[in-house]
Amino acid sequence: MPKVLIIGVGAGDPEHVTVQAINAMNAVDVFFVLDKGEAAAELTEARRALLERYVTGAVRTVVIADPPRDRAAADYAGAVRDWRDERARLLGEAIGRELGPGGVGGILAWGDPALYDGTIRIMDDLGLDFEVVPGISSVQILTARHRVTLNRVAGPVHITTGRRLAAGWPAGCDDVVVMLDAGLSCRRYRDEPVDIYWGAYLGTPDEILRSGRLGEVLDEIEAVRAEARARKGWIMDTYLLRRA
Ligand SMILES: C[S@@+](CC[C@H](N)C(=O)[O-])C[C@H]1O[C@@H](n2cnc3c(N)ncnc32)[C@H](O)[C@@H]1O
Repeated sequence: MPKVLIIGVGAGDPEHVTVQAINAMNAVDVFFVLDKGEAAAELTEARRALLERYVTGAVRTVVIADPPRDRAAADYAGAVRDWRDERARLLGEAIGRELGPGGVGGILAWGDPALYDGTIRIMDDLGLDFEVVPGISSVQILTARHRVTLNRVAGPVHITTGRRLAAGWPAGCDDVVVMLDAGLSCRRYRDEPVDIYWGAYLGTPDEILRSGRLGEVLDEIEAVRAEARARKGWIMDTYLLRRA
């Protein structure tokens, strides 16, 4: 049976790739890349550059066109499920076609494969043999850049999405990390005693950081976010909200 290595490669800085990840990359026969279209072209290019930098032999890559996703669907969860199923089918087909019985496939996962990344679930669904190599997530880069801890003394941390934060502050937790936020859902808390530690394009030369009392820095974050998004055509940002 072939094996697939899901390799976390950090969220932008090539120096965040671990020695274990480099060794894993060098053990791979074929890399499988899900091409997410133009918006993610820079991320695909970043992964290609990592392979060029760290793999000593020849690199064989198979690109799988990402199936279209119905972002306007009323049933959001259903649309994501359909898209994930189709993605899994295409990936499974490619792995079956390209890898012999003892072959090793590789999938480079952005950041850490355990955080908002569907690759592990897909491998489970396909019933494939796989290993996971952890990576440095965007959350770890965020806290390091701002020189803050993720949790307060013995306290919990809640990691969520912009979509969920827009529906309400998570119960029982004052420290909330927000990812996958299309448009700063934290806006609704601007009049509350909340501090924000925000970072975009973390670990890359385009990195932007802002922090402070939410009500005081939100306008500026909105402005720099809009400007960067217009200039680059895409944005990836993550933030920690800390309620007093
Ligand atoms: C699909 S999730 C993948 C997360 C990834 N597995 C990780 O460990 O960081 C994508 C989200 O991660 C965050 N993200 C990933 N890379 C980032 C970066 N370099 N700078 C800021 N946020 C990033 C953003 O919130 C983005 O919407």
